Amino acid sequence: MVRCSNNLVGILNFVVFLLSVPILAGGIWLSQKGSTECERFLDKPVIALGVFLMVVAIAGLIGSCCRVTWLLWTYLFVMFLLILLVFSITVFAFVVTNKGAGETVSGKGYKEYRLGDYSNWLQNRVNDDKNWNKIRSCLVDSKVCSKLEAKLVDVPVTNFYQEHLTALQSGCCKPSDQCGFNYNSATNWTKTAVTHPNQDCQLWDNAPDKLCFDCQSCKAGLLDNVKSAWKKVAVVNIIFLVFLIIVYSVGCCALRNNRRDGSYSRTYGYKP
Ligand SMILES: *[C@@H]1O[C@H](CO)[C@@H](O)[C@H](O)[C@H]1NC(C)=O
Repeated sequence: MVRCSNNLVGILNFVVFLLSVPILAGGIWLSQKGSTECERFLDKPVIALGVFLMVVAIAGLIGSCCRVTWLLWTYLFVMFLLILLVFSITVFAFVVTNKGAGETVSGKGYKEYRLGDYSNWLQNRVNDDKNWNKIRSCLVDSKVCSKLEAKLVDVPVTNFYQEHLTALQSGCCKPSDQCGFNYNSATNWTKTAVTHPNQDCQLWDNAPDKLCFDCQSCKAGLLDNVKSAWKKVAVVNIIFLVFLIIVYSVGCCALRNNRRDGSYSRTYGYKP
């Protein structure tokens, strides 16, 4: 019984340790190979998570198997903080991704995206010029619009309107329907004399690296992607949270085992 719980902590932490290796390797790979802003975006948090999980797992492994009480205390304290952190991130992700969706346009196969529909917190992130310039260069590098242009070359306007566009394609690669511009190709439109009050219409430019990349609709399209990604992260987080709580509970049990063993308490100077 006593051994079982300590062994279980050992096994669970070994699983966490094994998990941390590919995460760390992935983070290092991203920082070495990632040539675009897009990929470099995530390398530091991924490396931090990998190192953190590895250190926690090793502490738990040694603390439980070698019955080092102070190490197990530290381990459980860090685990507790991790549970709080993951819980907060999950709640935050649900709150932030609760608002906003594409709007259907009558007679069109695609939706259009308005920045005002998304949560204020997300809006502030993309309205910050420093953030947006990074994301913008990442979008240009990812060739999201050149790929669309290549795919829809010589498509007549009626067929273009039936196309099913992704949020980024709809928001960044074409002007808003409201502008009423004349279609030449998916990413080439002739402006009309009347300017629509929608600011995005003035920002439109046929140059492949400009298009609608500074439009509100492009920021909204990006937030739509962020929203679906965070929804998935939140679901994975809940599974991770349940796993962490199980590991934590078993760890508490192992600590009680260590404490019950008086000689160990004396050896490591622990006083209950
Ligand atoms: C857009 O289309 C017009 C008319 O077909 C053409 O003259 C112009 O060069 C095109 N612009 C770009 C940036 O491709």
